Amino acid sequence: MKAKSLLKLSTELKEYLKQELSEEKYLHSIGSEETAKQLAEYFNANIEKTCFAALIHDIAKSKSNEELLRLIKENNIEVSPSEQAALKTLHAPVGAFIAKNEFRIKDNDILNAIRWHTIGHKNMSNIEKIVFLADKIENNTRDLKFRNQVLEVIYHTNSLDQGLLICYRATIQSLLERKLFISMETIEVWNSLIECLSK
Ligand SMILES: [Fe+2]
Ligand SMILES: [Fe+2]
Repeated sequence: MKAKSLLKLSTELKEYLKQELSEEKYLHSIGSEETAKQLAEYFNANIEKTCFAALIHDIAKSKSNEELLRLIKENNIEVSPSEQAALKTLHAPVGAFIAKNEFRIKDNDILNAIRWHTIGHKNMSNIEKIVFLADKIENNTRDLKFRNQVLEVIYHTNSLDQGLLICYRATIQSLLERKLFISMETIEVWNSLIECLSK
C-alpha cells in the first residue's frame, strides 16, 4: 500500500484531534501548526514535516495520567525517572507512540519532535526546536506578549536558540517561583544553550 502523503494525513488527523481534544487544545494544535509553518519557512526547515509534527504534538494530551502510565508500561515506552515524576510531560512520549502506531508515522524527525516537545534535549534538530517553540508561542491560546517577545528575538538574532533560551528561562523561573521540581534534562538544555550562545 502506498504511504499516504502527510498533507492527506493532516486532514484525517484534524478530524481525529477534533474528536479527541478539547476545543481549546484543538485550537492550540492548529495554532502550533501555523506558527511552525512560519518558522519553518524562515529557517528553511522541511515545512510539511514540521507542520505535521506541530499539528499532532499534543495528540495524547487528553489522556488521564493513569492512562498515560498504563500505555508507557504496557508498551515499554522509554521515559527517564524525572519525566516519570513530572506527569505533565508524559503525553509527549505517548504522543510519539500513537503517531507511530496509529498514524503509521515512520519519520524520525517527526517522531522526535513530538517526543521531545515537553522537555526538549541538548541536541535538538531545527524541526524539534520549531515544534518546541510553536507549542509555547502559538497564536490561538498562548500569551501574545510572550509570543511577540520570543518572535522578535528570534527574527532579530536569526536564532532559534535565542528563542529557546527565553522559553527555558520562563519555564525555570515559573518552576522556581512555584517551588516545583526542575528536571535534570531541563537544566542540561539550559546549560547547553548558554554554552552554545556564548561561543
Ligand atoms: Fe504538549
Ligand atoms: Fe502543546
